[in-house]
Amino acid sequence: MSKVAVIGSGNVGATTVQRLAELNIADIVMVDIVEGLPQGKALDIRQAAPLIGYDVDVIGTNDYADISNADVVVVTAGIARKPGMDRHDLLATNIKITQQVCSNIEKYAPDAIVITVTNPLDIITYAALRCTQFDRNRVFGMSGLLDSSRFASFIAKEMNCSIKDVNAMVLGGHGDSMVPLPEYATVAGIPLSKLMDAETIERIVNRTVNAGAEIVEYMKNGSAFYAPSAAIATMVEAILNDTKRIIPASTYLNGEYGQHDICLGVPVKLGKGGVEEIIELELSIQEMRALQRSANVVREGIAQIRS
Ligand code: APR
Repeated sequence: MSKVAVIGSGNVGATTVQRLAELNIADIVMVDIVEGLPQGKALDIRQAAPLIGYDVDVIGTNDYADISNADVVVVTAGIARKPGMDRHDLLATNIKITQQVCSNIEKYAPDAIVITVTNPLDIITYAALRCTQFDRNRVFGMSGLLDSSRFASFIAKEMNCSIKDVNAMVLGGHGDSMVPLPEYATVAGIPLSKLMDAETIERIVNRTVNAGAEIVEYMKNGSAFYAPSAAIATMVEAILNDTKRIIPASTYLNGEYGQHDICLGVPVKLGKGGVEEIIELELSIQEMRALQRSANVVREGIAQIRS
């Protein structure tokens, strides 16, 4: 049986554990610094097993030694965004937490593939890569898949059609500078531009960019976790089952898309080796400019952690 460690047993971490348990693909360890929290939630998830039918072990712990031999480590530890708070406001606190978590990953699970989730995502991914010193195929962030899923859900709602027929892609940093690609969005293979006018597309694109903030505004105290955990579980499954899915993820770029020394959302092939390939799309001049703007925003954050 494979083993997945989820660091952080808050809303995103615990819901991810639930989704992974329901996929029945790995034993799961959930770690948190708050005593009793991961233990209680793990027990609760285990007690649902007879009803749902999964047959994997789920444990909660405060001891990082329990993540040893994990195949995949998902990092959700951190503080979540509050209303009016920009993702970058979170930076200093979440960088410190990430460094603690990564030194434990290096110590106890040195062969693991690491998926970062904590915001600001691209900067945290960069910090995790530097801290673990793992190869770039083994440390990457969950962002574009969530943003793409949000984009797809809005398209399906607008079309009043099945979500199964919608394909959508979002690149760039996970934040206000993200780059939804309507040119690459399709419904049953039909380009979006043939199905709705430019104004409608723009409205959907804007809603996608603000989708995380829209939820924070509603919830007041906390941020999204159902869709984020679904995106994480999809990525873990692609790795453990070596499915080679092509999905956007925040990945270290070394010349791809004209970008160097940065983590940014781009389409990748995910399999048992982690990021097995970076897919380079031919972007229009406008899309390239938008990606560059997004890269500039991420670079500002990276500069902050360097100083
Ligand atoms: N080690 C382990 N767990 C930690 C550590 C640490 N060093 N520091 C904090 N945590 C735990 C907290 O105790 C808390 O239980 O991380 C958990 C975070 O949970 P929530 O506050 O509920 O946040 P959540 O909504 O799950 O979001 C987590 O994911 O999507 C991002 O922006 C979001 O950065 C945030 C992260």
